[in-house]
Amino acid sequence: DLMPREFPAGTAVEPLLAPQHLAGLRVLVRARGTREPLEPVRFLGNRSSGKQGHAIADEAAARGAKVTIVTTAGRPVAAGVEALAVETAAEMEQAVLSRSDAADVVVMAAAVADFRPAVRHDQKIKKAGGTPEIVLEPTPDILAGLGRRKRPGQTLVGFAAETEDLRANAGAKLAAKGADLIVANDVSAPSVGFEHDTNQVLIMSGSGIERDIPLSDKRAVARAVLDAVVSSRATHPPDLLPNDNHPGSDT
Ligand code: PMT
Repeated sequence: DLMPREFPAGTAVEPLLAPQHLAGLRVLVRARGTREPLEPVRFLGNRSSGKQGHAIADEAAARGAKVTIVTTAGRPVAAGVEALAVETAAEMEQAVLSRSDAADVVVMAAAVADFRPAVRHDQKIKKAGGTPEIVLEPTPDILAGLGRRKRPGQTLVGFAAETEDLRANAGAKLAAKGADLIVANDVSAPSVGFEHDTNQVLIMSGSGIERDIPLSDKRAVARAVLDAVVSSRATHPPDLLPNDNHPGSDT
C-alpha cells in the first residue's frame, strides 16, 4: 500500500530527514588565510588551511542554502557552491563586500592578516642589499566593517583565534565587531584550530547564550555553528524576513 510507514531503525534515512533549516537563505563564508605580498616571491601569511570555513560552506549547501565562499586558494567546493578566489585582505574585503548585502548569513572563518607590508616591491629583494627593514601597515578589519553595515535580517558570525583567556577575549571581539555570534577557538590547544582536521570551540551569542563544542571533526563543528545560526534567527523573528522584503536593503 502507499501509506507512509515507519522506517526500521538503522536505515540510512537521516540525510533525508535532516532539517533543511537554511533552504532559501544566502550564506556567505570566508575561509583560509590571506597572503600579503612583500615582493613577487615572498609574502606574509598564516597557517589557516581553510578546512573549517570550507566545512561550513559544504554543510550550509547540504542544508539547502545558496552558498558563496570567498577563499584564498583552490580547495574543492561542494556542487552548487560559488567560489571566489582571493589572495590579500584587500581583495577579500572587496569580494566580501560585493556579496554581503545580499547575504542572509555571513560566516567569517578566515584568518585575515592584521598587518601587511607597507611597500610592495616590484622585484625580488636581493641578499646583496643587506637585511631589509620591513615596515607594516594595518589592513581593513572586514568583520568590523560588516558589523557596522549589518542590515536587519542578516546574521553575522565571527571567529576568534585566541591563545589565552578564550571567553574574555572572544566576548570582547563579539561586542567590538558587532557580530551576532562568535566562534572562539583556543588555537594553542592540541588538535585545535589551524590546519587540524578537528576543532574545539566555544560559541557565544550577543544575547549571552554560550555553547561548548568538544573536540570534534570540523564538519561537526560546522553543524554546531549552523545550528547556532538557526537558533539565533529563530529568537529574532523579524530577522526571518527574506531580504528582498527589506525596502532599505539596497542602500
Ligand atoms: O582554516 P583552518 O586551518 O581550518 O583553521 C581554522 C581557524 C583557526 C582559522 C578558524 O577556526 C579561526 O579561528 N578563524 C579566525 C582566525 C582569525 O583571524 O581570528 P582573529 O581573532 O584574529 O579575528 C577575529 C575575527 O575578525 C575573525 O572572524 C576574522 O575573520 C576577522 N578579521 C580579522 C582581521 C581583519 N583584518 N579582518 C577581519 O575580518
